[in-house]
Amino acid sequence: MTTIILSVDPGLTLRPWRDEDLPSLLAAHRDPAMKRWLASRIEDPEQGRAWLAAQEAGWADGTRCSFAVVEAGNPSPIGHVVAKRLRPGAASAEIGYWVSVEARGRGIAPSAVSAVAEWALRRVARLQLLHDVGNHASCRVAEKTGFALESVLPPHPPRYPDEAHVHVRTAAI
Ligand SMILES: CC(C)(COP(=O)(O)OP(=O)(O)OC[C@H]1O[C@@H](n2cnc3c(N)ncnc32)[C@H](O)[C@@H]1OP(=O)(O)O)[C@@H](O)C(=O)NCCC(=O)NCCS
Repeated sequence: MTTIILSVDPGLTLRPWRDEDLPSLLAAHRDPAMKRWLASRIEDPEQGRAWLAAQEAGWADGTRCSFAVVEAGNPSPIGHVVAKRLRPGAASAEIGYWVSVEARGRGIAPSAVSAVAEWALRRVARLQLLHDVGNHASCRVAEKTGFALESVLPPHPPRYPDEAHVHVRTAAI
């Protein structure tokens, strides 16, 4: 799949991750909220480089299309949105995201998630958005971007010790 760049109001650009983004990636993952709410941790440069390589591989086979979120005038990413399992003909794909702690509370995630959802829903009919029930900020992002609450998953320890909300957004008919 060809990598793409999405321009998003207000002044946001979504583009593929690059090797030179490693310091921003590591800095963002130092935040306790990232450690608490994300399934994967990035704690050292080796893990960061492996993650960046996985994003590139995902674009190459088209199954994991991830975007670094950058603001006008600053090339360092302040967030991330990914469409996972975006296979042609798949019944459903999944969206994931984070915003670095310094950039939160400004509606960056809703803008970026909306853009990627609209792009992904031209390829699959249904997108899922999952978050731990206690992650109220993520639930607000789901609500603001038109992902309706569909169900509640039971805990699945050790990796998923808490209940999770499953939100769904479908392609407009
Ligand atoms: C969830 C997350 C992506 C939201 O990003 P964002 O760009 O701050 O989104 P918004 O600006 O729309 O804020 C969403 C909610 O975050 C909370 N919030 C507001 N300001 C905040 C701040 N400065 N810091 C933290 N949270 C804040 C509010 O509850 C807000 O909802 P509201 O608009 O009803 O007040 C971000 O908090 C994050 O990256 N968290 C850690 C990783 C994570 O949880 N990812 C999602 C996994 S499912």
